Amino acid sequence: MSVHNNGLQEGAQWQELKLPHLLHTDAVQKLHATIQNKWDSLRQSACQTAAGRALWKHVTHDPLADLLSGETHLRKFHEKIKNDLLNNAREISGVILAVRTLWFDSKLEAALDSLSGGTQVVLLGAGMDTRAYRLSCLKESHVFEVDFPEVLEVKTTLLEAANESINNDQHPTLKAKSLCRVAADITNNDWLEKLQNSGFVPEKSTVWVLEGIIYYLSHSDAMQVLQIIADKCALASTVLLADFMNKPSTTLSSSNFHFYCDWPERLLPSLGFSHVKLSQIGDPDAHFGLTADPSNLFNKLRSLPRSMQTHPDDGSPCCRLYLVQASGLISQT
Ligand SMILES: C[S@@+](CC[C@H](N)C(=O)[O-])C[C@H]1O[C@@H](n2cnc3c(N)ncnc32)[C@H](O)[C@@H]1O
Repeated sequence: MSVHNNGLQEGAQWQELKLPHLLHTDAVQKLHATIQNKWDSLRQSACQTAAGRALWKHVTHDPLADLLSGETHLRKFHEKIKNDLLNNAREISGVILAVRTLWFDSKLEAALDSLSGGTQVVLLGAGMDTRAYRLSCLKESHVFEVDFPEVLEVKTTLLEAANESINNDQHPTLKAKSLCRVAADITNNDWLEKLQNSGFVPEKSTVWVLEGIIYYLSHSDAMQVLQIIADKCALASTVLLADFMNKPSTTLSSSNFHFYCDWPERLLPSLGFSHVKLSQIGDPDAHFGLTADPSNLFNKLRSLPRSMQTHPDDGSPCCRLYLVQASGLISQT
């Protein structure tokens, strides 16, 4: 097995796409056909992200991701990776996703360590996230997954199919103390009420996980969601974990990406958050050995001033993803 120039191991896991048996069962195929035929690209982004995690499972350790992403998304993502390897690309598709997953996992664990047991963890735009089944650091936590009703319904049914599988090692086992799925559109003003009706208590310490969601919202919706979370900081220890795109990044999908923020460390305190820590892909706490080569794009970007929107060498847009941690005033972190 050779080592790729960006520190990745090229080889077995990407040469051939192996689909788990479960994906071939009628019930699962029917569900994924519904996703393909009926869901818009916003909802399908949940499966796309899961496909990335599935193909990077040697680092993300997400065994349910194949089932949740489905054959079509897995094949598309696999094709992209194959082409990247063939063209000796400086970045392999999915590396950002893999780093992002590991960053959120590690910051979530650290936040839970700093808070007392019984902490609530709210995943906004949870999609096909499987942290409640993956992370043992959630064993004392009450997890809430918020997403559109159809996304959560299909996710639940797919996980039930895994549970009924004859193959015991494919059975999802809950690691969190509890898990509650809350069907809500977070651009409507009733989502917090729905969360509370499902058992969320604003006065209890909470970690809010906004992974791959905020830039899908309009500017006013994103600000409103952040403000609602910031308002909770006055009631209980609160940690926010979120990723933000800078303006050039939103051009990568002009139909889906809207909200951007070039300076989250200025925006968040203005809403009431404190202790804002920002990382870029490639920073010491945000590479996990996956972006080690100095020639890779992330390291090049990190060496440029953040105010720079286009690359001085070739005029290409400086697309940045900021991984941001913030806390409420009474939090210890
Ligand atoms: C790119 S996926 C990320 C999913 C998950 N956080 C992850 O990292 O795997 C974006 C998710 O946000 C959800 N979403 C987008 N807009 C939403 C809204 N207004 N209300 C609730 N969920 C939303 C989509 O359905 C999708 O599941």
